[in-house]
Amino acid sequence: MVDRIVERWGRDPEYVTEMLQDIQDEYRCIPRESLDRMALLTEVPVGRLVHLATFYSSLSLEPRGEYRLQVCMGSSCFLAGAPELMGALERALGIEEGETTEDGRFSLQRVRCLGCCGTGPAVAVNDEVVGAVGPSEVEDLLARFR
Ligand code: FES
Repeated sequence: MVDRIVERWGRDPEYVTEMLQDIQDEYRCIPRESLDRMALLTEVPVGRLVHLATFYSSLSLEPRGEYRLQVCMGSSCFLAGAPELMGALERALGIEEGETTEDGRFSLQRVRCLGCCGTGPAVAVNDEVVGAVGPSEVEDLLARFR
């Protein structure tokens, strides 16, 4: 799989971030072995790949859930109740921020801004952004994905 992704981008070191994103999409994380293989094929040092894989919030060295919940902690959402929303999600899922549920279904992260600051607190579920989610709406939100 990694070979196919790297070849798709022409083994071009300019596109290692895109390659990492494709690997992330495929495996829901960046497996360590994939970094070694990428380094060999692109001639980009493993250390640089690890840096990229830990720099971007969309990438992770640890497996992520099928549904990736990203709670916005930007200023507007923070003031609108994002910390309470995060707490409600943590309690409902039985995990803490940065963790993944045991069944691999949900992971929970914080992000800075999802681009809908006027309707906070906002949470993204994979690519879908949902605004104005209060703690009391958490169970309904999760039920859509359970
Ligand atoms: S501050 Fe939350 S979407 Fe911008």
